[in-house]
Amino acid sequence: MTTPTQLRVTAVRAAAQDVVAVDLALPDGGDLPAWRPGAHIELRLPSGRLRQYSLCGDPADVGTWRIGVLREPRGRGGSVELHELARPGALFMVRGPRNHFPLTSAPSYLFLAGGIGVTPILAMVRAAAGRGTPFTVVYGGRTRSTMAFADELTAVAGDALTLLPQDEAGLPDLPRLLGGVNADTAVHACGPAPMLAAVERECARLGLADRLHLERFTAGDDLETAYDAAENRDFDVQLARTGGTLTVPADRRLIEVLRDAVPGLSYDCEKGYCGACETRVLGGTPEHRDSVLSEEERRAGRTMMICVGRCRGDRLVLDL
Ligand code: FES
Repeated sequence: MTTPTQLRVTAVRAAAQDVVAVDLALPDGGDLPAWRPGAHIELRLPSGRLRQYSLCGDPADVGTWRIGVLREPRGRGGSVELHELARPGALFMVRGPRNHFPLTSAPSYLFLAGGIGVTPILAMVRAAAGRGTPFTVVYGGRTRSTMAFADELTAVAGDALTLLPQDEAGLPDLPRLLGGVNADTAVHACGPAPMLAAVERECARLGLADRLHLERFTAGDDLETAYDAAENRDFDVQLARTGGTLTVPADRRLIEVLRDAVPGLSYDCEKGYCGACETRVLGGTPEHRDSVLSEEERRAGRTMMICVGRCRGDRLVLDL
């Protein structure tokens, strides 16, 4: 669904302390678009906030999408709003699914989940188990009571699962876990920024960087700090659908300029990690500053994250 579609909440249940599992369906009960593990959907909340949530149900259930939502009182308000409003019968505008974190094809897997990052990993574990592909899954959380979907994961993964509540077991021993993977094992990780940074460091140290696939779901390091704003240059952006050309000055972000001219822009994190603002590039060469696109996608230059990306030349043409 590239255009937002109205979905109805059909069930809500507590999945852990401060986490609800929310089931969504078409109001007429029809089939939803197909999805694969790692996919996410975008909900537009009544306040206008846009939030992305990984699908964590069973892709074979074509009538229902399930998401897990952690209530974050010190967040930007979206999770609190959704916790308040998600009741059976409630309607939300939803777009997607999109997938920036696909399950790769591999002879075996190591899955690493931290906190609410378990949601895409749960769908991946279900797929690997269904295919009979060997896997190991390690799921860490603050305490046992905060670890959503632990029962479901246990039922699917059995002995292949290690649960690590931090207050009982401490942090995962990444050197041991990653040092023990087979030569052809793919590593998929989703969790908070510090966990992912530690996984990235350890994979780089062990020469596993090309086998690591991860998804960031929360604001961590400000990606823009990796770029020296003093080197930003002005450029023009032509809006192919809206019409007109805007100038993006060196001291403004592309998305700030676009927001003034294009109503209903899709975005969320504004830090280049969620993928919500991905926009098709019809002309010019984008300068990518996000952590969503792969190296291959960057080189192809067909899309860009307009919240952090800029232009390598003087002019971009965007499908806006
Ligand atoms: S808004 Fe999240 S990547 Fe741009």
